[in-house]
Amino acid sequence: VGEGLKDAADAVFDRYSPYTGVGFRNHNLRLYELTRLVMRADGIEFGDGDAYAIAMAHDLGLVSERDEGVDYLHRSLSLFRREFSGVGYAVDEEVLEECLLLNHRVSPVPNASPAAEAFRKAVWVEHTRGLRRYGRLDWNEVREVFRRHPRGNLDYVLFDFARRTLRHEPRTIVHGIFF
Ligand SMILES: [Fe+2]
Repeated sequence: VGEGLKDAADAVFDRYSPYTGVGFRNHNLRLYELTRLVMRADGIEFGDGDAYAIAMAHDLGLVSERDEGVDYLHRSLSLFRREFSGVGYAVDEEVLEECLLLNHRVSPVPNASPAAEAFRKAVWVEHTRGLRRYGRLDWNEVREVFRRHPRGNLDYVLFDFARRTLRHEPRTIVHGIFF
């Protein structure tokens, strides 16, 4: 588990993403790197390949037409299991579920695993373009993540996510942010 999983995650992303431009990929790459920064700051041990694959797949439920689930988060989870079971990943199934289902939550979820909380914090750093840094993150390192992986056409991608979500699952908008 590691580089093989990262390569597989890149291939899966390429296969599912319907968008041209770097926006969607860079959003995932920032989430991966920001999550690693949070994990390091909070002393959370987590497989690097696992973190990468989760970040690359976390929004694919929005664009997958093969996966079923009550909302796009569950479809991302279904896609992750279907695509990566054969490759092999180290993360515990329950933790995986939390990482993919809770990352968009506004507030910490009681009893969620530290890894899931790290993804959730990283989504907020990404969402606020680095303004929210959760104290222990180094500003220069956060800024470097945003510099290395520019937003590109992410605004278009988010607009398209919103359109898909409004059409298929309006309740998701009510229950949380979907990116
Ligand atoms: Fe996202």
